[in-house]
Formats: sequence, structure tokens, C-alpha cells
Amino acid sequence: MTDKIKQLRKAKNAIILAHFYQRPEVQEIADFVGDSLQLSAQAAATGADIIVFAGVHFMAETAKILSPQKKVLLPDLNAGCSLAESCDPDSFKKFIAAHPEHTVISYVNTGAEIKALTDICCTSGNALKIVNSLPENEKIIFAPDRNLGNYIKSITGRENMLVWDGACHVHEAFSAERLSALKKQRPEAKTLAHPECKKPVLLLADFIGSTAALLDFTKKDAAQEYIVVTEPGVIFRMQKESPHKTFLPLPGVSAPVSAPADDCGACNDCRFMKLTTLEKICRALEYEQPEILVPETIRKKAEKSILRMLELSK
Ligand code: 13P
Ligand code: SF4
Repeated sequence: MTDKIKQLRKAKNAIILAHFYQRPEVQEIADFVGDSLQLSAQAAATGADIIVFAGVHFMAETAKILSPQKKVLLPDLNAGCSLAESCDPDSFKKFIAAHPEHTVISYVNTGAEIKALTDICCTSGNALKIVNSLPENEKIIFAPDRNLGNYIKSITGRENMLVWDGACHVHEAFSAERLSALKKQRPEAKTLAHPECKKPVLLLADFIGSTAALLDFTKKDAAQEYIVVTEPGVIFRMQKESPHKTFLPLPGVSAPVSAPADDCGACNDCRFMKLTTLEKICRALEYEQPEILVPETIRKKAEKSILRMLELSK
């Protein structure tokens, strides 16, 4: 399977981009693995004719918006995102209309129509920088993640920030109670959390950041053990970069209490991210399907908000 993928990729001048939440074997075959911000920068810069996106729909759509002349393939069209789903264009349009004079900042975890209604996109890796690029008294709408939005609001002290009430099912499933219990069991471990986690969880974290920032922290930090409070796919790369360190996933609230922390069967996979398999990547490359398309009128508007983000995050 891997040989066939490599052969097709070369013959078709294709590139495979994968998010840190992807299955290990998918991360291994990818040309580039990164967080949402790094992946959008790669999608904008690549010279390949075909981009196979081992991630979720909004990521592939972002790649298509940035590189309309390229063929962008998403190996499984069911790879959606519960956070993107929590912000529908009609309600969002009404919300913006009800709050004129606000600058709209949207997380890239949104559909193209939401991006087209947005002034500046952001990711978890640059949200703070994007918000700080605006004058202090600027009125801001931040969508769709309430946890990331409220976290940024709390660290910037910005009162003029309206936060959309959306969330991701994976990060909502982490509880402060479970985390406290695990911290008691492993007192030496540092806690790393993604800003999509709820506030009580974030308050217990030693470091908060995007998947790339969490990974980077584990490479530079001196601790030997970490509790990783985000989708556990990122642990594959952490372990690869720091083979002598221990990484413990935090099981979600629905896992049995008796589940050991290092049993990944009990932890909190993103069911959308894990839909991508080597078989589906191979099929996508072979048949050049399923292809992601974005209507040109929406694409042009959405592109502006993504390019503004890329410009501001330099
Ligand atoms: P990153 O911005 O860290 O890549 O996170 C993307 C995501 O889907 C988080 O749930
Ligand atoms: Fe969406 Fe959450 Fe999955 Fe990230 S982890 S892709 S935000 S559902």
C-alpha cells in the first residue's frame, strides 16, 4: 500500500499533507505533518498539482481556497468537524448583522461560507497575535470556539469581544476532575492542554497551545512526563521526537474510570480525523476523487480572510 501511494504521488506530482491528529501510519507517509496554521501555509506554497489532505473537510477547503488551480482531494468526505458544524452561515450572518461595527475573527475550523463572512481568520497557533494586531478598543466577534475565544479574551483582558457559542466534541469531553485525579497519580508530569479545552481544564495546565506549540514545548522542556490534554494523535509525533519521555493521554468523560491513562483505546480520538486511512489515500490518488470544490464567489471572499491571517502571522 505504501509503495503504491509513493508511486502514485510521484507520477502525479502530488503532495500529502497531514494533521497531527491523523493515524500514525498516515503521518508516516505524509510529505508534511503540522498544525492547522502550518498546513495552510504549506497548501499556499506547494508547487504540487494535487494536494491530498489527510485531515478534515475545513482543512482541505482552506487548501482549495488558497490554491484554486490545484486539485485538492479529501480521502473521506465524511471527515467533518463538530466545531465547524457549530456555526451555520445563516445564524452567523444574522449575528454579524445584529452587531455591526465589529471586526469578525473566525477560527479556520469553519466552512468556506463562514470564512467569506470573516475579516480575519485565525488558528489556535496565532489567535492571540491576530487579536493583538487590532487596536485595544476594537469591537470583535470571535467564532466559533467559545473555549478558545474566552481563553483569548481572558489573557488579553478585551471586554469588547463577543464569543460565538460553539465547541469541539473532543475537547469538551475532557474534565477537570479526571485531570486532577491523573495529576495526583503522576505528580511529576506536566500538563499540556489545547486552548479548545474548557476553562477548568485550562486552569490546571502548565502549558497551553496549538498542537505544534505543544509538540515544540515537549522538545525543549526538561520534564520527563506529560499529560496530553488534546486529541491523542499528536502523541505519536511527541513520542517520536522525544523517545525517552512518557506521554499520557487523558481519557474523555465517557471512558470507564478504571481505564488506564496510557490505554489509547480509552482516550479521546476525533472520529473525523481518524476516518483517513492508507487505503483511502491510495484510492484518492488513484481516482483523483473525492475532490473538494469551492464556488468562486465564496472562494474569493474567503481567501481574503485567510491571506490576512497568513500576512499577520509572519
Ligand atoms: P491546531 O490548530 O492545533 O492544529 O488544532 C486544530 C484542531 O482541529 C483542534 O481540534
Ligand atoms: Fe474538529 Fe475537534 Fe476534530 Fe479538531 S478535534 S477536527 S476541532 S472535531
